[in-house]
Amino acid sequence: MAGAGISTPSGIPDFRSPGSGLYSNLKQYNLPYPEAIFELTFFFQNPKPFFTLAKELYPGNFKPNMTHYFLRLLHDKGLLLRLYTQNIDGLERVSGIPASKLVEAHGTFASATCTVCLRACPGEDFWAAVLADRVPCCRVCTGIVKPDVVFFGEPLPERFLLHVVDFPVADLLLVLGTSLEVEPFASLSEYVRHSVPRVLINQAVVGTFAWQPRGRDVVQLGDVVHGVEKLVTLLGWTEEMQDLMRREREKHPLHQDSTIDSLIKPSSSES
Ligand code: APR
Ligand code: ZN
Repeated sequence: MAGAGISTPSGIPDFRSPGSGLYSNLKQYNLPYPEAIFELTFFFQNPKPFFTLAKELYPGNFKPNMTHYFLRLLHDKGLLLRLYTQNIDGLERVSGIPASKLVEAHGTFASATCTVCLRACPGEDFWAAVLADRVPCCRVCTGIVKPDVVFFGEPLPERFLLHVVDFPVADLLLVLGTSLEVEPFASLSEYVRHSVPRVLINQAVVGTFAWQPRGRDVVQLGDVVHGVEKLVTLLGWTEEMQDLMRREREKHPLHQDSTIDSLIKPSSSES
């Protein structure tokens, strides 16, 4: 289970961290309250604040960090049953985790739909308008086009129902970088069997780990990349992580990243 805290190391603010979180930095949009930016009623009254925010979060400006690549390595090793993420930045897909292993519970910026005629709008049209500070409109009926991110009050994608089959059979639950404040996502943490270890890697103890801890819970407080690095070392996967991140860096040469560079030790031929 992942939340915005796994993307802050990539430079994307989370929502609720005091001061740095998105919800403390929306003053310029003079919203009635921060969450309004993700509410349909406000969106239809005034879509500008949402699209200004969307431009700031344009996925093309960010890249996965070690946390995403750790989850990718779990998949490569055949150990990832499913990744349930609340994030809309799409960095899980960019890290190479296949869509079949992903549940993007709060939707995604990867696709967009006309709010009037419900036609799918090509991503490139949508982003061309957003990056040009225009409200994206449907080519056919001129209705406002909204990215397929889930606004408060909207139903979650059908794939979220996969939890009914996944959580009862999971033999380990990792909860990374989330405040576990938003339902129904947060309750997923209760759906694994009591014999299953639940590992929280987060700045703070949150949700069920605070108010209903279980005997086999493990809490690793602090920065998520640091916590993942510790886990990778304990697992003896440091070499494999370095190889994976080196390969990804070569695939996306623009993805020069301090976290990745610090991890990739120059091989003997390079030193
Ligand atoms: N390392 C570890 N923990 C971190 C880091 C980090 N680098 N950065 C942030 N965190 C922690 C914060 O302390 C917080 O507990 O991650 C959590 C992020 O919580 P939120 O900002 O509430 O984000 P999230 O849990 O994903 O929010 C859930 O709320 O508004 C909705 O739809 C939105 O999907 C979002 C949902
Ligand atoms: Zn339309």
